[in-house]
Parts: sequence; C-alpha cells; structure tokens
Amino acid sequence: MKTNILNQTDVDNPFRVWSAACSSGEEPYSIGMLLSDKLKSGKWEIVASDISSRVLDKSKEGLYPIDKSSKIPDEYLKKYCLKGVKSKEGYFKISDSIRDNIQFKYINLNEPFPNLGKFSLVFLRNVMIYFDRETRIKLIDQIASILNSGGYLFIGHSETLLEITNKLVMVRPTIYSKK
Ligand SMILES: C[S@@+](CC[C@H](N)C(=O)[O-])C[C@H]1O[C@@H](n2cnc3c(N)ncnc32)[C@H](O)[C@@H]1O
Repeated sequence: MKTNILNQTDVDNPFRVWSAACSSGEEPYSIGMLLSDKLKSGKWEIVASDISSRVLDKSKEGLYPIDKSSKIPDEYLKKYCLKGVKSKEGYFKISDSIRDNIQFKYINLNEPFPNLGKFSLVFLRNVMIYFDRETRIKLIDQIASILNSGGYLFIGHSETLLEITNKLVMVRPTIYSKK
C-alpha cells in the first residue's frame, strides 16, 4: 500500500523541502502556497538557496510584477498574496504566512553542503545543466544523503540522472525517489 508523503509530518517534525537554485523565488513560494493549503494538520518549512546574492535578495523581498499573478490560482492569490498600493502599485507581495516559513540561504551546489538537516522533497530544477558529469555525481550523492527514505528529488525536463546515481530510483521522468 502506498503512503501519502504529506502525512509523514506532525507538530514536532515539520515537512521539509529544499528548493536548491531557487533563482528569484517563484519556486519556493509556489511550493509554500501548496503546502499551506494541503498540509492542514502539519507544519512545514522550506530552505530556498542560490549562489547569486542578487537573486536571493529579490527572492527574500517576495515582490513581483502583477502580470506574473495570472499564473497563480485565484484562491491562492486571495489567501497568500497582497496587492501593492502607492509605490508598490503594479506589484503583488507574498504574504508573511508563507514568507515566514521559508529560509533563504547562499549555497554553492559545487561545494560540500552546510548542515541542512533532512528533507522530504528536494527541487533541483534547471541547474545541473551548468555542471559537468563529475560535479553532478558528487552533487546527487550529497542530495541522496539528505533525502529522507521515501522522499523525492525533482529535476528539470531537460535533465536526467542516467548513469549518475544508483541511490535514487526514477518514478517518472524528472521525479526520483529514495527507497
Ligand atoms: C535557470 S535557473 C533555475 C531556477 C529554478 N530552479 C527554475 O527551474 O525555475 C538556474 C539557477 O541556478 C543558480 N546556480 C548556478 N550555479 C549554481 C551553483 N553552483 N550553486 C547554486 N546555484 C547555482 C543560478 O544563480 C540560477 O538562479
């Protein structure tokens, strides 16, 4: 019988997600809205990281042009986003209820990870394309070691872990699980 990974959480053990190479923050904020909506009984936290302090600063601010809001479901816009006024006219801001559960960090994926704890989900989308095979092998090895058993790694559509690891199993293209 399959267990729902979202049920593997309680007040003492928040559901933990890492958005590695989060760029300007759309990914961790989208995940945060989903978790806030779907994980009604549990706590969650997201680590969002990038190598660029410029994009990290933008991510932390959580302020986006209003035209980007068309991709967010209306229900989530109402619950988790605030319309900008005065100097912020034409922008929307992600609400504190989402931002407060996300830690933004500088992390270079080519180096040994700092102590991050364990995660149920890791998003590593569209960044391995910049790395050579040896770097990918080391990176995925480190990620496998911080994924919980039964956890999932998400990669980009143009990426693969073929001949990179035997510690993770492909469940469908772009999604890998740790046994
Ligand atoms: C194409 S964006 C992908 C953003 C996001 N994951 C997505 O799929 O929409 C690539 C990101 O990887 C970051 N990056 C590049 N090299 C990196 C490294 N060595 N460590 C951490 N992040 C890196 C860049 O700063 C950029 O924000």
